[in-house]
Amino acid sequence: MRTIELSSRQAIPVLGMGTWRMGENSQHRQSEIDALRYGLDLGFSLIDTAEMYGEGGAEEVIAEALDKRRSEVFLVSKVYPHNASQADAVAACERSLKRLNTDYLDLYLLHWRGSVPLAETLGAFQTLQQAGKICSYGVSNFDVEDMTEAVQLKGGDTIALNQVLYNLSRRGIELNLLPWCRQQHIPIMAYSPIEQGRLLNNQALKQMAKARGVTMAQIAIAWLLHQDGVIAIPKSSRIEHVEQNYAALNLTLSTEELAILDDTFLVPARPTPLEML
Ligand SMILES: NC(=O)c1ccc[n+]([C@@H]2O[C@H](COP(=O)([O-])OP(=O)(O)OC[C@H]3O[C@@H](n4cnc5c(N)ncnc54)[C@H](OP(=O)(O)O)[C@@H]3O)[C@@H](O)[C@H]2O)c1
Repeated sequence: MRTIELSSRQAIPVLGMGTWRMGENSQHRQSEIDALRYGLDLGFSLIDTAEMYGEGGAEEVIAEALDKRRSEVFLVSKVYPHNASQADAVAACERSLKRLNTDYLDLYLLHWRGSVPLAETLGAFQTLQQAGKICSYGVSNFDVEDMTEAVQLKGGDTIALNQVLYNLSRRGIELNLLPWCRQQHIPIMAYSPIEQGRLLNNQALKQMAKARGVTMAQIAIAWLLHQDGVIAIPKSSRIEHVEQNYAALNLTLSTEELAILDDTFLVPARPTPLEML
């Protein structure tokens, strides 16, 4: 799979599997494990999670899905803002590691900005990195002002990436955050790439998918993968969707199709604050 090089020199795959809503309901547990395993077998090698998802339940589902395959994946987890102080972030990471049944994370993110000073969270991330518990660290839901502040702090210059809401229907970041991150060589990890399913009601997308013999979700994911410096992490607990999402890697959109998508899903006229789900 195509990868992007992070400031830490780690190669991160451009397409991964999200896990929000996993680990919340024991009745869905086996299908979630099966979907993740199926994804691994197909070639997915990036998994995104957070201590928030199922209050640790998603991390446990991932551990079971991975079993002895930990080394095959680039594993990302996130700390709650209220756990982001120096001592609490280290403890939160250790709890995540335990649930994930691993001794390191490839990437650890601050889930969103809270009241803990950023300098303190970055200090905790550096402590975890020096201890070998995380390979690199980054942020999520940070707009340009937060990023500008963060990169100037000690340890801020090695922020690996920023995970934000970005999909065809949420293009506001193209006016400011995306160019800023590109200039700083900080990749964007696009969450909710199919807008949690809501994009799949769009008529233009439906027509394009039909004409190409693919699904709407595949077009939405392929469009993100056409954007420079962008990683996409669709979530699915269904084998057929995992298969479709993986196949989006090989879907090249034509100039005409990209133009239709630009005309259908407009970039806002003026910069707007970063949206969050
Ligand atoms: N940092 C943050 O604040 C933040 C916020 C939101 C999300 N995230 C991360 O980003 C990941 C992805 O975002 P998301 O889960 O919010 O939304 P998403 O990936 O845009 O959409 C997930 C929804 O789409 C369905 N789906 C997936 N593939 C499909 C396909 N090929 N065809 C039709 N439906 C499909 C899934 O249902 P099935 O399971 O039935 O397939 C699920 O209901 C999350 O899981 C999480 O890891 C991060």
